[in-house]
Amino acid sequence: MSKIRVLTVFGTRPEAIKMAPLVKELEKNSDKFESIVCVTAQHRQMLDQVLQLFSIKPEYDLDIMKENQNLWTLTADVLLKMKDVFESAKPDVVLVHGDTTTSMAAALSAFYAKIPVGHVEAGLRTFDKYYPFPEEINRVFADAVCTYHFAPTDTSCENLRKSSIPEEHIYKTGNTVIDALLYTVENNTPEIPNLNLDESLKTILMTSHRRENFGEPIKNICRAVLELVERNPDIQVVYPVHLNPNVQKPVYELLGGKERIHLTSPMEYAPFAAMMKKAYIIMSDSGGVQEEAPSLGKPVLVLRTTTERPEAVEYGTVKLVGTDKDVIVSEVENLLHNPDEYKKMSEAINPYGDGLASKRIVDLLYKNLSKKIS
Ligand code: UD1
Ligand code: UDP
Repeated sequence: MSKIRVLTVFGTRPEAIKMAPLVKELEKNSDKFESIVCVTAQHRQMLDQVLQLFSIKPEYDLDIMKENQNLWTLTADVLLKMKDVFESAKPDVVLVHGDTTTSMAAALSAFYAKIPVGHVEAGLRTFDKYYPFPEEINRVFADAVCTYHFAPTDTSCENLRKSSIPEEHIYKTGNTVIDALLYTVENNTPEIPNLNLDESLKTILMTSHRRENFGEPIKNICRAVLELVERNPDIQVVYPVHLNPNVQKPVYELLGGKERIHLTSPMEYAPFAAMMKKAYIIMSDSGGVQEEAPSLGKPVLVLRTTTERPEAVEYGTVKLVGTDKDVIVSEVENLLHNPDEYKKMSEAINPYGDGLASKRIVDLLYKNLSKKIS
């Protein structure tokens, strides 16, 4: 029987982290699958960090990232360049992940080539097309053109049903982010970069990069950090700053060189996971961090007003606090000074997966495709 040719496409840091365990699982099943990896390199440095960690050598690298790129050229580049990849790689199925522009445009390109697409992390929704922007529409679009929907939770399965996706194409698999986290913790002894942290202080770890937070919101977040550090001499803040110039500029202008605020380059995944474990509180507008931190028992204050990941909010370990300076300060101080509140939010829970999502997805691909190509 011929092997099933699976083309896995990704381009940004979070996609790479969440697709890496799937690529590894396909490689483990090389008697059944021919695994082909294409990176668009929508991100360059932040993608390469992950490829190196998981020892993934892509067969195709489109190398599209440009300084401060825009959505139009990004979409056009992926859409067009993927056509040549499909013609050369001749995949039986294409896998895309989540809600980035790489995922949406690669899925559309595969649809134009009439190749079936599997959507990993399907069915997440806020039901507000501008929050997050453009991710909500990217994932709705990807779901619409994909054939196989690998949804992480019951809620995401239900969202797919509401979007009229046929029941027989919806599979609850868990989120591969937990596979990645467990793999990373098991296979690495990561060193946290030397930031001269004071071990006697409580560490707040933060990240932010969402487009809808550019401008005033991100400045408000920075002002909240300044006020928190000034009012609370027992805390320090660690902030690996996303490479997007719309983040770098305001963050370094407002927080650079300040006492007990440690700005760093984006951390490699293994040290970042170790940093999450070390942190007392995490503040973030990241999607992936909202999924990982609850399983490490860390309270997450989300610097957004909506989330497509309501599960951990319902369990009480994640709280939406938005980007108002005074609200952020008061929510962080509530956790710092109120042990009962902290205890409630720091219970380890894992609504996003059990570390076996990649295996389930690979089994489902085999079940669905082995007969079709034999
Ligand atoms: C992208 C995704 C977002 C995801 C985020 C994860 C879209 C539209 N956005 O947003 O959904 O949450 O990635 O981080 O798909 N840059 C570098 N080096 C890098 C990465 C980025 O220099 O390794 C800079 C470049 O100037 C680039 C800019 O950041 O042009 C923006 O990158 P882009 O992928 O367009 O947007 P993100 O904000 O990273
Ligand atoms: N992450 C990392 N290094 C960092 C910050 C984050 O490896 O310095 C990881 C984090 O653990 C998570 C992923 O990057 O797995 C999230 O990526 P990001 O926040 O860029 O994107 P999102 O998840 O919001 O799409």
